Amino acid sequence: METLLLSSSENDIKKAAGILNNGGVVAIPTETVYGLAANALDGSVIKKIFIAKGRPMDNPLIVHVSSIDDIDKFSLVKEISDKARKLMEKFWPGPLTIILKKTENVPDEVSAGLDTVAIRCPSHKVANKLIKTASIPLAAPSANISGRPSPTTFSHVKNDMLGKVDAIIDGGQSDVGVESTVITLIADIPRLLRPGYITKEQIEDVIGKIDVDKAVFDKIDNTEKVSSPGMKYKHYSPKADVILLAGESEKFIDYVNRNSDKNTAVICYDDEKKNIDALSFTVGDENDMKAQAYNLFDILRKVDEENNITLVYAHLPKKEGIGMAVYNRLIRAAGFEVISLE
Ligand code: TXA
Ligand code: MG
Repeated sequence: METLLLSSSENDIKKAAGILNNGGVVAIPTETVYGLAANALDGSVIKKIFIAKGRPMDNPLIVHVSSIDDIDKFSLVKEISDKARKLMEKFWPGPLTIILKKTENVPDEVSAGLDTVAIRCPSHKVANKLIKTASIPLAAPSANISGRPSPTTFSHVKNDMLGKVDAIIDGGQSDVGVESTVITLIADIPRLLRPGYITKEQIEDVIGKIDVDKAVFDKIDNTEKVSSPGMKYKHYSPKADVILLAGESEKFIDYVNRNSDKNTAVICYDDEKKNIDALSFTVGDENDMKAQAYNLFDILRKVDEENNITLVYAHLPKKEGIGMAVYNRLIRAAGFEVISLE
């Protein structure tokens, strides 16, 4: 298939909207990561997304809208509860995905047979304008090949999707760098299913106490029932094995210097880099979680481009604030392998 490469110009957004209205698949920039979009109201086109990504069919997609009003306009959910509306008013447009009971307007292909739907209103100007121009909600997972790190630049998307989708829009580098925070409001107590840029603390400030799903930090046994099907798959992985090291900087540096060879790469903090002998990549300052989120997926892809690297050591991040998102992605990239240096 020929893939049309588009800019963020008004004219190109119109072209992309035309493709989506005709049942095509377009990779689009969002503030979190790039997404692979198609008409969320047409179940027959959704399978193209799953094929392009190589995604398991039981993993539901997020529906993207351009405003809170779109939810009623397209009659996507049974009810917007008070808590849901409060969160939407506070954080939308922005990187928060909310799970609610769906109506029959959301095809089973989008919800993977669940009776719920995940909805998000992106703040990225191009994504938001595209949804308005196409006048349809867009179902979109991250635009990576399933299992690989999510794409945060146009070139990441080209690497994964060229020849597999109808068009890719260049929207520069994603501001946030990790996927949206996902929260379900189906149970009595809201539950965080995936941490992101909008933190647990920020959400609790608006709707009170929430739970954190077990799968955010821990490995889920294949036989256990998961709330978010995406969490049971290995994720974000470069081709090399990733091992996380827990402990302070001095011990981290000492360990990687003693255990590295020419086939090892290290993911570290700014201050550590100068003391590390192996090939190393910094995610940012130890206390700058925003920078770590912004850089993480790009670095995991850079590691992949180094052909000889078979092992990656990374410093286990703090679980606080946006750090919870970085922790969650890295621990999956590492297949939950952590060595304690204490
Ligand atoms: O930032 C993002 O959320 C990006 C951009 C493109 O918007 N999208 C994204 O989509 O990360 P995806 O498909 O890669 O991740 C969506 C996650 C998956 O883990 C999926 O299982 C979960 O959300 N999910 C979607 N619908 C769900 C539902 N109804 N119930 C539970 N989990 C759901
Ligand atoms: Mg994804």
